[in-house]
Amino acid sequence: MNDTVKYVLDESRIPRTWYNLQADLPRPLPPVLHPGTHRPVGPDDLAPLFPMELIRQEVSTERAIEIPGPVRDVYRQWRPTPLYRARRLERALQTPARIYYKYEGVSPAGSHKPNTAVAQAFYNKEAGVKRLSTETGAGQWGSSLAFAGALFGLEVKVFMVRVSYDQKPYRRALMETYGARCIASPSPETQSGRAILAQRADHPGSLGIAISEAVEVAAQSDDTKYALGSVLNHVLLHQTVIGQEAMAQMEMANDYPDVIVGCTGGGSNFAGIAFPFLGAQLRGGKKVRFVAVEPAACPSLTRGKYAYDFGDTAHLTPLVKMHTLGSIFTPPGFHAGGLRYHGMSPLVSHIKELGLIEAVAYHQTKCFEAGVLFARNEGILPAPEANHAVQGAIDEALKCKAEGTSRAILFNLCGHGHFDMQAYMDYFAGKLTDQNYDEKELAMALAGLPAVKEAA
Ligand SMILES: Cc1ncc(COP(=O)(O)O)c(C=O)c1O
Repeated sequence: MNDTVKYVLDESRIPRTWYNLQADLPRPLPPVLHPGTHRPVGPDDLAPLFPMELIRQEVSTERAIEIPGPVRDVYRQWRPTPLYRARRLERALQTPARIYYKYEGVSPAGSHKPNTAVAQAFYNKEAGVKRLSTETGAGQWGSSLAFAGALFGLEVKVFMVRVSYDQKPYRRALMETYGARCIASPSPETQSGRAILAQRADHPGSLGIAISEAVEVAAQSDDTKYALGSVLNHVLLHQTVIGQEAMAQMEMANDYPDVIVGCTGGGSNFAGIAFPFLGAQLRGGKKVRFVAVEPAACPSLTRGKYAYDFGDTAHLTPLVKMHTLGSIFTPPGFHAGGLRYHGMSPLVSHIKELGLIEAVAYHQTKCFEAGVLFARNEGILPAPEANHAVQGAIDEALKCKAEGTSRAILFNLCGHGHFDMQAYMDYFAGKLTDQNYDEKELAMALAGLPAVKEAA
């Protein structure tokens, strides 16, 4: 009987290319629009913010994009990541389901985010950029870019959402250890931050506001560019190393997923595990169900409108078509800071509209309960964001139990929660509540969506 728990690939099996879903889409993505003219943006419009190679990747429809040697060399530090069969969790749930998880928490920063941080730092360095500015919610992305900046000799400035900055001082310390500067957002350092603070001095911040601050800093300086940890096509592209490795590991297990589950903040770790399998399906391969799990307090995919919107609160970014709660929407301060974004990546939104994926939304206490059950059986303590995927996988496994069917469930355990112990302490102390977003605020934020006439 096969009782393997861990499927490990050799370093030589790190993928040599990233997989680009745009090559296999049945319908192309709607274009990104200039916020002033509402016409499609060209590479020159994006050049103040990103190096040309990343802009090329953003619009490319090539199926395989080569991973540069220096990026693969850094990936060797923790890739390929292990794929586990959750045998103890299966026993605890008494489910006939076969549960697998890909564990991205073995990266130096503790999540999937370095997969793109390293690539972005590399291309910026190649283009002669000196400094990067960015936002961070949970601090996972800020730590990852700080780490990548240290490796490639780039200065990094991180605007960290105020509630997370207060909840997670050790994430800030990690960024500083890597040599980055971390500032609570909204901050007095930018015009966007000052405008928000003038309205409300104790504003908890949001990813939309932190993005405005980081974009403003990059736009004002020739040697500074902006880096985003999710949402954009090139970020999702870099994450496809996860799914490509998982395909090889599922083959080692002599199995293939029936269902793939991932949590979604901006969509990058979900895309990372799902897109290579979805691409295979679109090219005639086996059909898989894909389930995106989001927080009920910030439910862009399940409650948002599919419309053109700004990526940030101060409206400094181009307009992208996505599921959005409105760019001025401020979600409640729940603990999965990485999932507190008003929008969803255009690619994930597009495939949701095409009916290729499903989405569900859960409240945080149910997700922490799932994370604790997972830790007590598998030993790994998930990040609060990853707890949403754990809960999604458990729900699928319980469906199998109810139906008496064995299905293969693969989920992405996108990060560990070692810097999130305050959240777990609050959970054990009974202090975590299931916050609801303010319906009136949502209605107001949606009413403020830009009026865009789309080409037929
Ligand atoms: C551990 C973790 N998971 C998930 C996310 C959400 O981002 P994405 O949907 O792009 O994976 C974040 C974002 O900060 C994160 O830190």
